Amino acid sequence: MSAWRGVVPTYRDRLKLPIDAPAITLLEGNTPLIPVPGISERVEAEVFLKFEGMNPTGSFKDRGMCVALSGALAEGTRTVVCASTGNTSASAAAYAARAGITCAVIIPDGNIASGKLAQALIHGATVVPVKGNFDDALSIARRLAETGEACLVNSVNPLRIEGQKTVAFEIVETLGCAPDIHCLPVGNAGNITAAWLGYTESLEYYQLDRRPAMWGAQAAGAAPIVRGAPVERPQTIATAIRIGKPASWEGAVGARDQSGGVIEAVTDSEILAAYRLLAATDGIFCEPASAAGVALLLKKAKEGAVPVGAKIVATLTGHGLKDPDRVVKEIKVPDPVDATLAAVSARIGL
Ligand code: F0G
Repeated sequence: MSAWRGVVPTYRDRLKLPIDAPAITLLEGNTPLIPVPGISERVEAEVFLKFEGMNPTGSFKDRGMCVALSGALAEGTRTVVCASTGNTSASAAAYAARAGITCAVIIPDGNIASGKLAQALIHGATVVPVKGNFDDALSIARRLAETGEACLVNSVNPLRIEGQKTVAFEIVETLGCAPDIHCLPVGNAGNITAAWLGYTESLEYYQLDRRPAMWGAQAAGAAPIVRGAPVERPQTIATAIRIGKPASWEGAVGARDQSGGVIEAVTDSEILAAYRLLAATDGIFCEPASAAGVALLLKKAKEGAVPVGAKIVATLTGHGLKDPDRVVKEIKVPDPVDATLAAVSARIGL
């Protein structure tokens, strides 16, 4: 068995990347597709979680970022720039470091998880917090890139979508077929667009007889696609998807409609309940936004809308360790006891 080589070396023949582009890789991809008996039982279906938190920087962004940086190097780019709710900036910073070029990240001040900020800083990116939200930051990043001084590596860069579509290839290769339903969170909407493209390209490549219904979840306070109108002041505890004007809006609606799927809102309390359930019953720690797809699945099951026995994949987009502050907001850290056997035994209840 040959060792995993990363997204660009493995899928180069299916990526629209210049032929002479180098392969920048941190061996991203090849993430586990984890069966989850706890959630499966609850929704009476066969559920698998594609744990994208296992990528090198802890989120699905690495699949697209390695391709974007490979393409940027082929073009002789010296600086990449992005707006981010945190994960894109962490990934851009890491891959730019690896590629030996500079990186600037524009983030909404006070609204990114501490782990993600730490990543951008340690990889040496120029971090620019702005007094605004993600949508403001993206509009500035786009304008910066228009000057030609820097290459934009948000998912409006088609190479990001190219890389992210490979998640569908891996799922089909592992299951030997497409799932019936694929659930995932929707923020700037690049990921649902990319996954759908990946399934579409898989039809012929893997000789599939079907593609899944795409079920996208937006946070109720940041649900422009569900409402059908931009949200000026998006609000949610799931900061990764706190976005009011998604750049890939049309791609998301296309994926929903062509697949016979849905894009629905889940409340912060539904997101947090799914986040805690995944950790407590199936042993998987993802970040809050990642749990939105599972929250939608649980909601649809309550409505009786999940076909019994269906094969369902939910993407867990980012690792829980990105946002440790959320845990201690949810669960109180216990007060210390005396350093004695008696005190510790009493606390444990033994
Ligand atoms: N889940 C996580 C953990 C994310 O970081 C994001 C997006 C999404 C879901 C939504 O994916 O935008 O393709 O619909 N994060 C971006 C960022 C916006 O800047 O890190 P999407």
